[in-house]
Amino acid sequence: MKYQKKWGVVVFSLCCAIMLLGVQAWAGGIQTFARDTSWNDSYSKGMALYKDNCAACHGENGEGGASEDASGLPLNLQSFLTIAPKDFIAKTIVYGRASRGMPSFGGDLSAKQVDQLATYVKGWQTQPSKEVEAGAVVGDPFEGEKWFAGLCVGCHGSRGEGGSSETGGGQLLESFAAFSAPSLADPGFKKAASDGFIKASLIYGRIGTPMSSYLKGQQGQVELSEKDINDIVSYIRTMPTVE
Ligand code: HEC
Ligand code: HEC
Repeated sequence: MKYQKKWGVVVFSLCCAIMLLGVQAWAGGIQTFARDTSWNDSYSKGMALYKDNCAACHGENGEGGASEDASGLPLNLQSFLTIAPKDFIAKTIVYGRASRGMPSFGGDLSAKQVDQLATYVKGWQTQPSKEVEAGAVVGDPFEGEKWFAGLCVGCHGSRGEGGSSETGGGQLLESFAAFSAPSLADPGFKKAASDGFIKASLIYGRIGTPMSSYLKGQQGQVELSEKDINDIVSYIRTMPTVE
């Protein structure tokens, strides 16, 4: 009898343990499920908002605008997405690029809708994010101005105000004909871009566009040192705004 009782206790404890494990797995399963559902929800709402508000200028699938009237930059480039934090995309939506025709959506869309849009655009990223420096980039703007005058004004304009499709790189290569270099002096760009984002744009360039990489070792046509790049970033930071 005593023997049987002992086994009873063992079987009972085993059952309890299995049940506990089961409950845990079930709860864990529910949690993961809930997380995915909210991302899916955000993504699909973002997709609908994108079609209504952005596709006309940036293309149905973020491939970029095809004409001068709809000249939104491509948004589905891995060379852009791997250095652009979600926050940069969200701020660009809020502030727009007024001097270049992209309206500010801060008044029309709620913070939640902006986040849904940024989630959708970020969803095009398939490659791992690159390291982007946090905090201020310190350099010598006077040195940076010289580099800018020599290397950048041909496409981005003498005041960094942006170019047209005549100067975006199409003058160099026919396949770049639809590109125009964006404004680096636009108030919305200034507010959305961090120093680290500008620096990463210069280090890596934008593969698939006329924007080359500039850091030595990245196989651009011009190979600058990190100090030169810091100088250029600090110059861009001091450039007067062009409305
Ligand atoms: C041959 C033309 C060309 C030259 C030269 C060029 N750029 Fe660009 N740049 C572009 C284009 C086109 C883009 C947009 C690429 C894209 O579609 O994402 C761009 C993008 C950028 C961006 C990102 C802006 C944004 O809105 O995300 C920065 C920053 C930038 N360029 C800085 C520079 C600097 C600084 C130089 C000089 C060292 C330079 N560029 C030289 C054509 C050029
Ligand atoms: C009327 C046309 C237009 C509309 C609508 C528009 N954009 Fe833009 N967008 C532009 C242009 C043009 C630029 C580049 C500005 C420049 O050339 O200086 C740009 C730039 C951007 C950039 C910066 C890309 C980069 O490489 O730095 C992002 C991100 C962006 N738009 C997202 C959006 C989203 C999301 C929407 C919808 C909520 C939207 N835009 C609606 C025209 C538009």
